Amino acid sequence: METAIINITEETQNQETIMEKIRAAGHIIRQGGLVAFPTETVYGLGADALNPQASEKIYAAKGRPSDNPLIIHISNMGDLEKIAKNVPKSARKLAERFWPGPLTMIFEKSDIVPLETTGGLQTVAVRMPSHPAALLLIESGGGFIAAPSANTSGRPSPTRAEHVAEDMKGRIPMILDGGPVGIGIESTIVDFSAEVPMILRPGYITADMIRETIGEVRMDPGLIPDDSGISPKAPGMKYRHYAPKAQLILVEGSKEHVQEKINQLAKEASKEGKSVGIIGTDETRDGYPLGIVKSIGTRTDGASIARHLYGVLREFDQLDVEIIYSESFSEAGIGQAVRNRMMKAAGRQIIEA
Ligand code: TXA
Ligand code: MG
Repeated sequence: METAIINITEETQNQETIMEKIRAAGHIIRQGGLVAFPTETVYGLGADALNPQASEKIYAAKGRPSDNPLIIHISNMGDLEKIAKNVPKSARKLAERFWPGPLTMIFEKSDIVPLETTGGLQTVAVRMPSHPAALLLIESGGGFIAAPSANTSGRPSPTRAEHVAEDMKGRIPMILDGGPVGIGIESTIVDFSAEVPMILRPGYITADMIRETIGEVRMDPGLIPDDSGISPKAPGMKYRHYAPKAQLILVEGSKEHVQEKINQLAKEASKEGKSVGIIGTDETRDGYPLGIVKSIGTRTDGASIARHLYGVLREFDQLDVEIIYSESFSEAGIGQAVRNRMMKAAGRQIIEA
């Protein structure tokens, strides 16, 4: 299949031209086809959420296990009622504050939502993204777009159209290229199908921000990396996901100790003839004499680290690095989401410096 990569950035064209392109993409969606598109978090792989055959195409294109449910993207509050039942007041409050935006909420599903879209569950995940092109595509695509991240299952989520093309070229008819995304990690997921709302996936919208708005919220105990054996409630969070091809090892401790330890590990691995990658920050990158060193962002701006994480992992994949040593990051603010994704990418391999 030919994959058309369609530029929808505003630099070289006017609004009407962009709108025409998005309408063509919406037409593909309404016909049951797939279109990759930008959102503010990561690129999504979209299909008509109410068409079971269309949802199945998503699983096939990604190589995704069929029990891993999809998020339905909507463009206005009125449409929530059509796909979700028993939406509690607290969820409406969150929607008022954070929609459109990087927040996904889980409710009981209505009858029009096919089980193919929810991975066989009676609940449905819903998000209203804030990216203008995403909102326009949802409207012209019929109102309900099922969209996981547009990567091959198990690879880092795409934060640029080029990443989508790496994974999806030849598998889908169209990629809308809106340039690099703003946030860079997936939406926060809050489950409202249980008594007390529960965060199933940390993201840009933090637990504190949610508590400020609705009071009590719990963290899915399955997210905390220990040996209790509790698995995460969101099926997608249990896989070793966001994984680079190389082995990733996180190094924790004070700045000086971490740098020393990484340099020592890099030296040993190089001696063994391995090609080594190092993930540092703008503040520390010059302190690593060995290996291929990449800065993931600046420690003074946690959002910059989130924005570059997946791109850096993909760059290392292309360089055929065998082992990556990475600095680790604090739990503050968006740091919790960054840490969660890095732990998963590392398969929980951490070294104390
Ligand atoms: O930011 C995002 O959320 C991006 C963009 C494209 O919107 N989408 C995204 O989708 O990250 P995906 O499919 O890569 O991740 C969805 C996660 C998976 O871990 C899935 O298991 C979980 O949400 N999920 C979806 N529906 C669920 C449900 N009914 N119950 C529990 N978990 C659910
Ligand atoms: Mg994903």
